[in-house]
Amino acid sequence: MLNLIDHALKSPLARILTWPHTPESYLEFLAPKVGGKSVKATVKAVRQETDRAASLVLAPNHRWDGHVPGQYVSLTVSLNGRRHTRCFTVSAVEDGCPVVTIQSHANGKVSNWANESVWVGDTVEISQACGDFVLPAQLPERFLLIAGGSGITPVRALTDALVAADYAGQVDILYYVPAAKDAIFLAHLKAVTESHPNFRLHLVKTRDTRSKLQGHFSAAHLKAIGADIGGSAAYVCGPAGLIEAVEQHWTDAGQASRLTLERFQAVKAPAITDAAGMPVEFTDSGVTTTAPGRTLLEAAEGAGLTPNNGCRQGICRTCTCRKTSGQVRDIRTGELSGTGEEDIAICVSVPVTPVTIEL
Ligand SMILES: Cc1cc2nc3c(=O)[nH]c(=O)nc-3n(C[C@H](O)[C@H](O)[C@H](O)COP(=O)(O)OP(=O)(O)OC[C@H]3O[C@@H](n4cnc5c(N)ncnc54)[C@H](O)[C@@H]3O)c2cc1C
Ligand code: FES
Repeated sequence: MLNLIDHALKSPLARILTWPHTPESYLEFLAPKVGGKSVKATVKAVRQETDRAASLVLAPNHRWDGHVPGQYVSLTVSLNGRRHTRCFTVSAVEDGCPVVTIQSHANGKVSNWANESVWVGDTVEISQACGDFVLPAQLPERFLLIAGGSGITPVRALTDALVAADYAGQVDILYYVPAAKDAIFLAHLKAVTESHPNFRLHLVKTRDTRSKLQGHFSAAHLKAIGADIGGSAAYVCGPAGLIEAVEQHWTDAGQASRLTLERFQAVKAPAITDAAGMPVEFTDSGVTTTAPGRTLLEAAEGAGLTPNNGCRQGICRTCTCRKTSGQVRDIRTGELSGTGEEDIAICVSVPVTPVTIEL
């Protein structure tokens, strides 16, 4: 039955009848629990972790394929009639249910919903899990896990996976927070280190001048905790400044290949000057528009289409579409694509020639 529904949703007739929306969005409206191709999940429990961070335990429907510790999902929630999608790491699993832990941002739409307005029983949509911030197949002798703020979410997932694997090597968790009250999962991480002496937690209270470890990331912190960057697999997730500093340090030490990083925010994109007014044809929808200096995602939305998207910054690949002709520029790197068929992330692509996109 569900295969038949999937088949019907993909038919050209369904696309025409439901334009400018998607067949999935109509099905969601009529039967929210059955849904389209994405995973529907009910918020089963909400737990405040800190003043600014809440964990949502999600009960997904049968479409959920599970995840590998360290991966994330794109979570979509409807607020005031508009759908908003953001990426969140699966920080833990409780009774088989994935948990996302969300720290609020000033004026942040989804993060403030999760901290202030979510109700147990709310329905959200999540993508299948994705991402490469995962443990290697062969575990090395040492791990150095560096996190800042909400960047602790995938670090907690990796920590729990190492505990579950009875990992006997050394694990150092270097966690940057303004003050101890801002440390998410502090009690959990302390419990891990108490029961597993090979796991050590080093809390850096960046704004606490009386703290032994204070200020932003520096080589002195690595020295103070006895880190061995040449002998450890290192992971970092957190604010852009922390990631840049750590990446620079590992690059200078010739150890960049030992560092795995996860960005929650995109690197600042250079201004694009050669994209003025290029025609874009979205072939599945039969829509042609121009994209004056805008990404293809913005051009599609401006034309009334509702493409899948998540991070909107070239990280999650949720918005990937097939380009069948034309050339685009990646706004993060300035690099030009080829002129033929290829998959592109439309949220970070601007056309520099006329392009056709399967959307
Ligand atoms: C792969 C990935 C995994 C992520 N996992 C988590 C997670 O586990 N927990 C979590 O709390 N967040 C996570 N994020 C960040 C999350 O997706 C959102 O970006 C964040 O919650 C803000 O969304 P918003 O709707 O509240 O803010 P928006 O309404 O999108 O923006 C509001 C304001 O917040 C600023 N802002 C947006 N995002 C950030 C950010 N990441 N850091 C600082 N300022 C920001 C904007 O510049 C703007 O001023 C992840 C992001 C990625 C790409
Ligand atoms: S929306 Fe995440 S890569 Fe485009």
